[in-house]
Amino acid sequence: MISPRILCMLLMTCSSWKGVMSLDREACMPIRLSPSRQDSLPDIETLRTHRGLPGKAGGIGPVGPQGAQGPRGLPGTCACDPSEIAQIHVFLGNITAKLESLIALHHYALKVDQCDHMPCKNGGTCINDGNSYICNCTDGYEGHDCSIRIQCVVPSAPNNGTITRESGQLVPYKENITYRCNDRHVVAYQVNNFLVATCQKTKQWTKDAPVCVVDDCNSDSCSGRGTCINQIGRTICECDEGYEGSDCSVQNNPCDLSPCGQKGICVWEKGMNYTCRCHAGYHGKNCEINIASDCVRAVGMEDGRVGNNDITASRSHSSYPPHKARLRQTGGWLSSYPPQRDEWLQVDLKTSTTVVAVATQGYGGHWTTSYKIAHGFTGNDLQIIQNNQGQDLVFQGNRDHNSVVRNNFPAPVTARYFRLLVQTWYGTGQYRAALRVEYYTC
Ligand SMILES: *[C@@H]1O[C@H](CO)[C@@H](O)[C@H](O)[C@H]1NC(C)=O
Ligand SMILES: *[C@@H]1O[C@H](CO)[C@@H](O)[C@H](O)[C@H]1NC(C)=O
Ligand SMILES: *[C@@H]1O[C@H](CO)[C@@H](O)[C@H](O)[C@H]1NC(C)=O
Ligand SMILES: *[C@@H]1O[C@H](CO)[C@@H](O)[C@H](O)[C@H]1NC(C)=O
Ligand SMILES: *[C@@H]1O[C@H](CO)[C@@H](O)[C@H](O)[C@H]1NC(C)=O
Repeated sequence: MISPRILCMLLMTCSSWKGVMSLDREACMPIRLSPSRQDSLPDIETLRTHRGLPGKAGGIGPVGPQGAQGPRGLPGTCACDPSEIAQIHVFLGNITAKLESLIALHHYALKVDQCDHMPCKNGGTCINDGNSYICNCTDGYEGHDCSIRIQCVVPSAPNNGTITRESGQLVPYKENITYRCNDRHVVAYQVNNFLVATCQKTKQWTKDAPVCVVDDCNSDSCSGRGTCINQIGRTICECDEGYEGSDCSVQNNPCDLSPCGQKGICVWEKGMNYTCRCHAGYHGKNCEINIASDCVRAVGMEDGRVGNNDITASRSHSSYPPHKARLRQTGGWLSSYPPQRDEWLQVDLKTSTTVVAVATQGYGGHWTTSYKIAHGFTGNDLQIIQNNQGQDLVFQGNRDHNSVVRNNFPAPVTARYFRLLVQTWYGTGQYRAALRVEYYTC
């Protein structure tokens, strides 16, 4: 059986006519015996009854049942009476088969494939295009059969510069040449003293030969605030962000860019970076941190990461010692009776920690209704958080013994010790100050 993707060609030798006939693509479609199919070869009976005109070569085209004219304007005739066919040779690439008769053809599926003889060179892909073919060349080749290598001509070296290849040489597609400017010269309009150009499909280089100019830039050129570029006959400065002027000596006001947005006030002094004074509730270089929603990491009162020994108090009820003061846990710290203003509960976080908020709960019918927060690094240097009038800030505490009330600090506080100073507590008589506490970081 012959492969269906094979170029086919018939040589027929008839007594009345001799000729070489190329079967067109249609005729070389897989042969089916059904006479109603336009692209089926005529069966032997049809050929016999509709003999062709001697000398009128047309190939063995499809022949309709009546055989007068083939479809699509193809001559529907056989060039000679099959009975007169002496020999049929079928050429399949470089294999020649001699067929005994046309009947033998019926057993082969023949199909024209223009690409079968692999016409595309250098790895090109052949695409069958009906009666012809198209080569889809691999990168770097062109031409109908991809036999032409794409190359660029190396130009001449720039004045006061060199080139990595000899000028006039041919360099293949995708390869590079490097221009280099001589000592103390640079490529005009660039910072480098070299330039790489690549050969393109169009046979043009990606970059033209540079102009090499004497390097007139030095370390002082742009006040150290920009990049000095040599042009032809002069230098210019490309200033770093925040600077302008021909020598980049003028600092822009960084606050003009509103880095703090609506969340803080931008403050700037010449020669310095800006700072954002964040409004209450915001934190970060650009006040980008929303303390209420972004700062919810507990320091570890509730989950026990803060050790029992690191929680201390001024005076305690013996059954409700300081280490019971853990938010949302059963039990709580209770002051001694009667409590006094500034009774305190202190947490040692062991390392310097930036805390932004505190949350409290009461316990067992007792609670703390207002308090201050003091902080320090040694325990002997405690400072009380102040409001913006410079007075001690009094936080509103709990209104019942179980709800959690969180207070954000006006600004983040970095310290190791945090001491909560009770100011007022619920009730009189037998009531004490009670606390369960947690502190939060961002
Ligand atoms: C032609 O013949 C050569 C050598 O016999 C063979 O390697 C090659 O595959 C043949 N080509 C075709 C198209 O049949
Ligand atoms: C030619 O080859 C490229 C790369 O293999 C392919 O992306 C492209 O589709 C091909 N073109 C055609 C017309 O087949
Ligand atoms: C190289 O540069 C010098 C100045 O640095 C100039 O006088 C000379 O003409 C240049 N050489 C060429 C070949 O252009
Ligand atoms: C040519 O230069 C380009 C960048 O300039 C680089 O990406 C590429 O790898 C280089 N090609 C060769 C063959 O060196
Ligand atoms: C100024 O602050 C901006 C924004 O944080 C930063 O990107 C820049 O590096 C700082 N510049 C200096 C000189 O500190």
